[in-house]
Amino acid sequence: MIINKCLFPAAGYGTRFLPATKSMPKEMMPIVNKPLIEFGVDEAIEAGLSSMCIVTGRGKHSITDHFDCNYELEHQINGTTKENLLTDIRAIIQAAQFTYVRQREMKGLGHAILTGRALIGNEPFAVVLSDDLCVTEPNLDGVLKQMVKIFKHSHCSIVAVEEVPDNETHKYGIINGIKIKENIYRIEDMVEKPEPGTAPSNLAIIGRYILTPDIFTYIEQTAPGKDGEIQITDALLKQASDGIVLAYKFTGKRFDCGSIPGFIEATNYVYEHVYTRPTSR
Ligand code: G1P
Repeated sequence: MIINKCLFPAAGYGTRFLPATKSMPKEMMPIVNKPLIEFGVDEAIEAGLSSMCIVTGRGKHSITDHFDCNYELEHQINGTTKENLLTDIRAIIQAAQFTYVRQREMKGLGHAILTGRALIGNEPFAVVLSDDLCVTEPNLDGVLKQMVKIFKHSHCSIVAVEEVPDNETHKYGIINGIKIKENIYRIEDMVEKPEPGTAPSNLAIIGRYILTPDIFTYIEQTAPGKDGEIQITDALLKQASDGIVLAYKFTGKRFDCGSIPGFIEATNYVYEHVYTRPTSR
């Protein structure tokens, strides 16, 4: 079982960043000079995936344009010193194929993933929530690549987790499970955004998943849960109770770019440690 496809739910409104996100998709908010979603696509390509399946919604045209050729711009900078500024995005467009489906109604992350079924079909796939920006040291595998390696042996759904403080568990899907190997847990329970003080552990799901295609049937059978939305966490719990779902405590740093403090922290970190300064402007 090989994973080729990566699903990017990208239909949300990004209300926390209004007014910036009034006409610009939150996925296009730049961390220094690169849109958030491009970091996710980079991570997926590094993990060996070549098909990027994006679930969009109204007002998301700039995502489609970003992962396409811009003839005017190409023409303008062709043969000039500025050409190197487009090197990365040109490489991405060549390395991956992009497909899109529109989510007409916002009924939660589970519903967004189910909308992506038309692009995924009947094969295991990765999911990246581009709000969660993950970085690893240059000599280490990216988070998705770490997960793909585990999947090659386990052949089951995997969620990425990290430990969060007690006063933050209510912001995440929280898992509980049996540790079966260093950093790997077999999930026994998971709760979407538990009330403060009721979380089954401190292991919070972050926006990286590998899902087997039977998840679509589980989502179809999932009733609206927390906040009246169809939650992927609830569908995964059912999948875990019928079989095996793993949680993987990844190596790396993750920033919650869906919040303003996390976004600023990521910006500073990327500027200091990741950003390659262009040679010309
Ligand atoms: C979603 C998931 C949640 C997970 C989080 C990670 O929530 O529903 O389980 O912990 O992503 O970022 P959201 O942040 O979209 O409300």
